[in-house]
Amino acid sequence: MCGIFGIVVEREQPLGQILTEAGQRLSYRGYDSVGCATLSGNGTIDLRKDVGKVDEVATRLNFGAMSGQRGIVQLRWATFGAPSQVNAQPHLDSDGDLVGAHNGNVVNNIELRQQFIAEGMTVRSTNDGESCIHAVERYVDRGYGMVEAIRSAYQDLEGDYAFIIGRAGEKQLYAFKKGSGLVVGIADGATCVSSDLPSILPLTRRILRVQDGEIVILWADHVELRRVEDGSLIEREVEEIAESMESVRKGGYAHFMLKEIHEQPQAAAELFHLLEASRHVAPMVERMAQARHLYLIGCGTSYHACLLGSVYLARLAGRAAVPVLAPQFIAQYGSAIGEEDVGLFVSQSGETKDVLNAMEIARQHGMGVLGLVNVPGSTLMNESERYLPLACGYEISVPATKTFMNQGLAFLYLALRMGGHATDVLARLPNLLEETIATVDPQLGPAEQALADRQDMYYLGYGATYGIALEGALKLKEITYAHCEGILSTEFKHGPLSAVQEGYPIVFVVGPEDVSLLVSAINETTTRGGRAIVIGEKNPRLRANAHDMIILPQAGPLLSPLLAVVPLQLLAYRLSLARGYDPDFPRNLSKTLTVD
Ligand code: AGP
Repeated sequence: MCGIFGIVVEREQPLGQILTEAGQRLSYRGYDSVGCATLSGNGTIDLRKDVGKVDEVATRLNFGAMSGQRGIVQLRWATFGAPSQVNAQPHLDSDGDLVGAHNGNVVNNIELRQQFIAEGMTVRSTNDGESCIHAVERYVDRGYGMVEAIRSAYQDLEGDYAFIIGRAGEKQLYAFKKGSGLVVGIADGATCVSSDLPSILPLTRRILRVQDGEIVILWADHVELRRVEDGSLIEREVEEIAESMESVRKGGYAHFMLKEIHEQPQAAAELFHLLEASRHVAPMVERMAQARHLYLIGCGTSYHACLLGSVYLARLAGRAAVPVLAPQFIAQYGSAIGEEDVGLFVSQSGETKDVLNAMEIARQHGMGVLGLVNVPGSTLMNESERYLPLACGYEISVPATKTFMNQGLAFLYLALRMGGHATDVLARLPNLLEETIATVDPQLGPAEQALADRQDMYYLGYGATYGIALEGALKLKEITYAHCEGILSTEFKHGPLSAVQEGYPIVFVVGPEDVSLLVSAINETTTRGGRAIVIGEKNPRLRANAHDMIILPQAGPLLSPLLAVVPLQLLAYRLSLARGYDPDFPRNLSKTLTVD
């Protein structure tokens, strides 16, 4: 998830400061490198880019001295392709006449690069943003005008992305969109376009939202929207944005946590497309399949994804994998590991000290070290032998939500591939997540009431939903400060059942295959006065035995656990607010724990 911003003004002027400030406003998304390009009236392009933070790169490369009549700034969030100067964006075409930068993922990047090289173009990086520029160059070289070239390039570029491009010697910028966000700003004597509304708002509050399959052409005094399909003009009313900057940064949601919960369908779609096209999956699967012992290692939410991953790998690929909390990996298995073993280290931040310590021990023992990680350029990403990105973009809220979803998705994808199964079941996940968010929200009221004043409670799951119950309980603890224990449903009768008395709430997360077993567990509690809140697919037996039921869309045993986490996230969020807390920044906690 990169950030892009482009601006067009009437005549040549200093643009470096404007672009640097726009880059600063994009930086909340997270990034590893920064680049600026300006196009001047005399047909020259000035391109400066490197790895590092906006302020530091802007000072080192003297962005302040850049001037032009058009400018583009890009912040790169690496998915594949190391964070490096050459992979940083914007990119030039072969002759240096076109310059552009993208946000998102072009999933057929490898095939396209081979084609471009075969066609004699100069390909300088492995970054997929460069493919966008050559895709346009290909048609410009055949004599097409820019809009026609973009319409053809759009057909060649697969994935979810938005792209800004300019041509030397012209007066306008162009942008087009397929999947990723793109918004246009109309100011006095200038127009701009960006992946993010907050980067535009200090310049103007008059905006146009660009839709998929649309091209926008920006001049200093007006913009034009055209359909990729047939090049025809689109009429769209300009919107006036009234919200505060803070609310806009949160995408109109009250908190980042809520925004990030709602981003799950899009994040899942992007990761699925990325994995489908990735050349890293096959060698990763092979390495995992051939290991003597395979360990799935993480902390907190990432560990809960490992629990789910271990179920998927066993069920779908017959591969036993040991889920283990990172510090316990050292304590428990430190003396049992060797070169034939592989550890898959799972971490949103890629900087959790407990995880890095475990990775270091694994390395010292000669183990294979693989990563599943969200933050580009993180230690885990850099130091693992091979990694898969979670491709969620920046997760600001301390409680992890969308990164858990994509960790679960990645595990399911790896397990399907290892077991030789088709992966298309995952193509349904984004829509099912949309449906889940829409349908569970209105069902949460009774559960919310039952849990509102409780200072302790239990969440129970079984099989694939065991990790989900633990994750739901962690979310609740983290942001309501109440005690909530997630345990295996069958373990409840071995001790915690003694806590149950009249009205005591217990949340059951039920997978479609485990209804009979869970109905017994529900009754063990309800016969003792417990209040059973059940999350699962529509089922008359569950309905008849539960006090409150939150019904999930029909998704089957593989996807249902992933959907089940959504009501638990929303419930924790609502209960946190009801108790007067800020769910984004719970007390005593930090997003990244870089201490032992
Ligand atoms: C999750 O909501 C927590 N903030 C926390 O448990 C987190 O998952 C844990 O600290 C591990 O972080 P990581 O994924 O960045 O390694």
